[in-house]
Amino acid sequence: MAKTKLGILISGRGSNMQSIARACSSGEVPAEVAVVVSNRADAAGLEWAADNGIPTAVFSHKDFESREAHDEAIVTRLQEAEVEWVCLAGYMRLLSSVFIDAFGNRVLNIHPSLLPSFPGLHGQRDAFDYGVAVSGCTVHIVDLELDHGPIVVQRAVPVEGCGDAGALADRILIEEHRAYPEALKRLLTEPWTLEGRRVAFGRGAS
Ligand code: GAR
Repeated sequence: MAKTKLGILISGRGSNMQSIARACSSGEVPAEVAVVVSNRADAAGLEWAADNGIPTAVFSHKDFESREAHDEAIVTRLQEAEVEWVCLAGYMRLLSSVFIDAFGNRVLNIHPSLLPSFPGLHGQRDAFDYGVAVSGCTVHIVDLELDHGPIVVQRAVPVEGCGDAGALADRILIEEHRAYPEALKRLLTEPWTLEGRRVAFGRGAS
């Protein structure tokens, strides 16, 4: 059976990209990473991707007049690589409808909080500062709102024992690296359907 082709979008370190790529290489997720795209040329994850034989591309948002034009260039590159599913992995840009129109519900994101609590750029710090006892991470289908679409997988993380937001972020990241491959595996191997905001597994055909 042909493996599903993934495109991964990053803006920085790319540790979630690595966890997805490793899960694909090991066979845990029946997919291959066809291309890694970044909006930042200095994203550290690009080097890891290249070192591991994964094609990379950079489209700086500063080179485009609009969010739509930037997304259009990325979508074209992903389509050239025959990408079927897109994983945002620390990609710090809101997507326009250009992206959603091209890939529909096959765009995923990971966020370091239990959504709908603490969306945005500082999910771990906001949860820590609020004083929650439990935080975690969320893998969700992307829609046009920030950190908002239907939830695929959530994993909880206790805050107790974390001395600061950085310690909580480290603890959450360990779960992120489990949650993203788990979400991908389920979506690619199990029947699922969307019931409103709910991702319902096992009851319909994908
Ligand atoms: C991860 O913690 C991810 O959840 C977060 O950025 C980090 C990227 O790390 N994403 C968001 O906050 C999205 N709103 P990584 O580059 O090592 O995967």
